[in-house]
Amino acid sequence: MGYQVQTVVDLEKCTGCGRCVAVCPSECLALVDGRCRVVKDRCMHCGQCGAVCADGAVRVTDLTVPVPAAIQTNDRAAQLFQIVSMRRSCRNYTQAPVSTGILQDLVTFGLWAPSGTNAQKWAFTILPDRAAVVSFAVAVAAFYRRTNRQAENPLLRLYTKLFRGDVLGRYRRRYYDQIRDALDRFDHRGEDLLFHGATAAIVISVDQSASCAHDDAIHAAQNIVLAAEAMDLGSCLIGFAVEAARRDRRIGQHLQLPAGHHIYSVVAIGHPRYPYPHPSGRRPLSPRIVSAKDTGGLS
Ligand SMILES: Cc1cc2nc3c(=O)[nH]c(=O)nc-3n(C[C@H](O)[C@H](O)[C@H](O)COP(=O)(O)O)c2cc1C
Repeated sequence: MGYQVQTVVDLEKCTGCGRCVAVCPSECLALVDGRCRVVKDRCMHCGQCGAVCADGAVRVTDLTVPVPAAIQTNDRAAQLFQIVSMRRSCRNYTQAPVSTGILQDLVTFGLWAPSGTNAQKWAFTILPDRAAVVSFAVAVAAFYRRTNRQAENPLLRLYTKLFRGDVLGRYRRRYYDQIRDALDRFDHRGEDLLFHGATAAIVISVDQSASCAHDDAIHAAQNIVLAAEAMDLGSCLIGFAVEAARRDRRIGQHLQLPAGHHIYSVVAIGHPRYPYPHPSGRRPLSPRIVSAKDTGGLS
C-alpha cells in the first residue's frame, strides 16, 4: 500500500470542511491554515478524497471515471452503474444503529449470489450492534497483538525463516508498524481502525466441503455491499479480519460458526457519516481482446 500521492488541491475552492482528511485511509491529508494539504507522500490512490469533496476542490490526477456506453440507452444498466460506481468503502460511520430487519435484507441479497455447483454452503453471521462488532474486533486484535509480539523476536523470526519461510520477517517489514500504531490507537484513544466504528457487520463463512468456498463468499459479499449502497448504507470489506480468521481458527469459534466453516469475508456496515457526491475513479485500463485468430485457433 503505497504509491506516490497524485492528489492535488485547488486552494481557491477548498472550504476547509475536512471531509477529505477524515476519509483518507492513508492519512495523507491534513488541514493546514484551514485548507486541505497533502502531508504524506504515499497513498492508495483510492480517490476517496475527491469523491467526498462537495466543492470539487480535490482531485487524484491519475484516476479516470470510466462510464459504460450502455447507460445512455439502457435504464437498468444506468441504475446498476449508479450503484456500482457510487459505492465506496466507508470508513466513517455515525453511531446510528442498523436495524436487524435491514441486516437480514442485506443477507437476502447475499443469498442471490452464484455459488460453485450451486453449493450454497454458506452461513451469514450478523453482528447486530456496535457491542458485537467491538467484541469481534477485540478477538481479531488479539491475533495481531500476538503476531506483532512474535515478529518483534529476532530469534523467532530466524527460527521461522529456517523452517517455514520468511513469513514473520515479511510481516515485520510490511505490516508490523501499521498494526502497532492501530493497536496503540485502539488501546489508548478508542480509535477503531479495523471496523472504522461500524455499528454492524456481516461475516460470511462457507463449509470447507464446498467446491469453490472462497469464490462463493466473495460473490455473496459483493451483492451485500452493492445492496448496502442501494439502501444508503455504508459498507467496507475488512480483509484484516479475514486474514486473522484464516490464521487463527479461534476467531471463528468466537462467533460459534457451524462446524467445518471458515470465514472468507467480513463486511462492516453502518450509516455513513459523509455523503459522497462524486464517484472516486479508477486507473485507466483498456480490456485486452484476444480473438481466435490471435491464438491461432481459427484462420
Ligand atoms: C478483499 C478486500 C479486502 C479489503 N480489506 C480492507 C480492510 O481490511 N480495511 C479497509 O479499510 N478497507 C479494506 N478494503 C477496501 C479497499 O481498500 C477499497 O476497496 C479500495 O481502496 C477501493 O476503494 P473503494 O472500495 O472505495 O472503491 C478491502 C477491499 C477488498 C476487495
